[in-house]
Amino acid sequence: MEVLDQDIPGLSVNDTASLVNPIMHFLSTALLLGSVAIQHVLGRAGASRQPLLLKRSVDSFIGTETPIALEQLLCNIGSDGCNAQGAASGAVIASPSKQDPDYFYTWTRDSALVFKATVDRFTTQYDAGLQRHIQEYIASQAKLQGISDPSGSLSDGQGLGEPKYNADLTAFTGAWGRPQRDGPALRAIAMITYANWLVQNGYTSTASTIVWPVVQNDLNYVAQYWNRTGFDLWEEVNGSSFFTVASQYRGKIPSSSKTPASGPLWLTRRQALIDGGNLASTLGKPATSYTAVAPQILCFLQTFWDSSGGYARANINVNNGRAGKDANTILASIHSFDPKLGCDAATFQPCSDKALSNHKATVDSFRTYKINSGLGKGKAAAVGRYSEDVYYNGNPWYLATLAAAEQLYDALYVWKQAGSVAVTDTSLAFFQDLVPGAAKGTYASGSAAFTSIVDAVSAYADGFVNIVATYAAANGSLAEQFSKDDGHPMSARDLTWSYAAFLTAAARRAGVVPPSWANDKATSGPGTCSATSVVGSYSSATATSFPPSQTPSTGVPPTSVTSSTTGSHPSTTTTSTTTSSCQAATSVAVTFKELVTTKYGQTIKIVGNTGALGNWDTSKAVALEASEYTSSNPLWKGTVTLPAGQVIEYKYINVNTDGSVTWEKDPNHTYTVPKSCATSATQSDKWQA
Ligand SMILES: *[C@@H]1O[C@H](CO)[C@@H](O)[C@H](O)[C@H]1NC(C)=O
Ligand SMILES: *[C@@H]1O[C@H](CO)[C@@H](O)[C@H](O)[C@H]1NC(C)=O
Ligand SMILES: *[C@@H]1O[C@H](CO)[C@@H](O)[C@H](O)[C@H]1NC(C)=O
Ligand SMILES: *[C@@H]1O[C@H](CO)[C@@H](O)[C@H](O)[C@H]1NC(C)=O
Repeated sequence: MEVLDQDIPGLSVNDTASLVNPIMHFLSTALLLGSVAIQHVLGRAGASRQPLLLKRSVDSFIGTETPIALEQLLCNIGSDGCNAQGAASGAVIASPSKQDPDYFYTWTRDSALVFKATVDRFTTQYDAGLQRHIQEYIASQAKLQGISDPSGSLSDGQGLGEPKYNADLTAFTGAWGRPQRDGPALRAIAMITYANWLVQNGYTSTASTIVWPVVQNDLNYVAQYWNRTGFDLWEEVNGSSFFTVASQYRGKIPSSSKTPASGPLWLTRRQALIDGGNLASTLGKPATSYTAVAPQILCFLQTFWDSSGGYARANINVNNGRAGKDANTILASIHSFDPKLGCDAATFQPCSDKALSNHKATVDSFRTYKINSGLGKGKAAAVGRYSEDVYYNGNPWYLATLAAAEQLYDALYVWKQAGSVAVTDTSLAFFQDLVPGAAKGTYASGSAAFTSIVDAVSAYADGFVNIVATYAAANGSLAEQFSKDDGHPMSARDLTWSYAAFLTAAARRAGVVPPSWANDKATSGPGTCSATSVVGSYSSATATSFPPSQTPSTGVPPTSVTSSTTGSHPSTTTTSTTTSSCQAATSVAVTFKELVTTKYGQTIKIVGNTGALGNWDTSKAVALEASEYTSSNPLWKGTVTLPAGQVIEYKYINVNTDGSVTWEKDPNHTYTVPKSCATSATQSDKWQA
């Protein structure tokens, strides 16, 4: 590949677009140079080979980027994230960047989207580390709900609309575009998904007593304030935002409050309200306000559609002089995705004709960027927020480009499940860009038309990911933006939302989809829209300490390979358990075992250099337990969840009933938390006397 690269005039092997992998490098440059280069490199007309090469290069990028994205995402979560020093437990910082721009704050929307992705991932693969983060997130949000901020307080719910807080969970009092009404809805959706998991695994009382009170405040906020203007997700426009309204709908709907609490799943949710109503039904909580309001939100959502332009207007109830084409609407579609809703247009399902037409209109509005020049219609392009954007002079964003890919992966999933794809008047232009000669009709799988559409849409989707691969930093970091002129990363570095956007796009491409939220709910709204809202009551959720060991009812995923290594220190042995086909663990439940003879009343604790180990503060040391202690085997043990790959230093201490502390002798123990598929590990030590 290097030789081939050098054959292309003007191409340096050190090109900044180069990725770890030579195929990637070759392909991205080849695509930049156009089809002539591809033919040159392949030595023949490359048209039929191109999709395969593209697929391989995207496979390879996803393989490399996935662990980086997961690790960097967790780095931005307090209190022990590697880039989040100073952030409170469970608080997601938008980016570690503290100047130009300063994003070291926690936004309700960004955090909710990050945790929506995290919970979705958690529900498909149990991971004790992610579970700890989810619990800390919910506890942190319960706390945020209770504070008074410039949007108001919890007493009438208005404080919940505050978009941004300091990373230590105090109010941010500077000027800002507030309120932003998508935050409570998105936060409810993330928490509801976790609550559903709890119910499914037999922890209904945790869902009911800990999660529901936090969810309920947010749902009540949506039911009360959905019909008021606020600032959009880009924090600029004070009006009604498509993204916000779509999110509010999803959170809002309960099915029937007659569903018994023990009944199947509260997986149904018309987005925030639908989600919430369903959860309410499952838990036997009142849901009538959500049931009354949800259809009205859905009705209102329909009014954003611009039928002559074939797209959803991003903002209404405002005159901001923009055309209204905005990645806002693509994000609304992917975050409303319910694999059981088929290609429903009312909820803007990714494969619906309206959402596909909107995809085309929105992507085409960015074809004026210099880095997109020369790409014809139907070729993947770098996607920004909206074409009139002037922030950093207006550039493509990684998360918007990934969202364009994700919508298409969602659509492909549904078409394959359904065994057919429909081309309507509304979606015809979208399909004709990809499959010349495409015509209206419904095509069953097995037909040539179905195959060519699926192949073309797959390649189109991969093209968007390939753009992100091309313009990501060489080490895999994803910033907020990349230059519209030359593609170099710009604005905030390591944007948490960029990593979440990558992980969800990669999951959808692999056919991993989120749980259904609408169930089989019909999605038709009322014939005439009305501004029904319901005044809610609000109270601070204070019970936020989760019971330990809420593992899946089917057991922690099986382990098939056990490896054992002996550490260099003679008193130390390390074992870890791994599975042969699994996802890389993000954190590991490490069981520390310490052999030390103690007297009655003494407690052995572990203290070390991370938050989980008390940061060397003996008052925050983790107590071990002595349930297996015998005089011949004086064992103290305890389990601490630590980030995979973290290198820790620690010591054991012996604490007397009067609080006096005896430290074990130097040196400090050091331990590297295994970075593998293993979700648990054991470290055995002896007291250093
Ligand atoms: C409130 O709802 C009505 C009925 O759907 C709609 O006409 C109006 O624009 C909405 N206003 C806001 C600010 O949401
Ligand atoms: C947003 O618009 C509404 C009218 O729809 C107005 O009442 C409110 O004051 C505006 N907010 C700000 C911060 O300009
Ligand atoms: C990539 O390099 C930048 C600049 O040195 C650094 O800030 C960032 O943390 C690195 N990212 C990763 C994933 O290593
Ligand atoms: C152990 O760690 C503590 C805290 O970082 C440090 O003060 C101490 O010097 C370390 N001990 C040794 C022997 O390195």
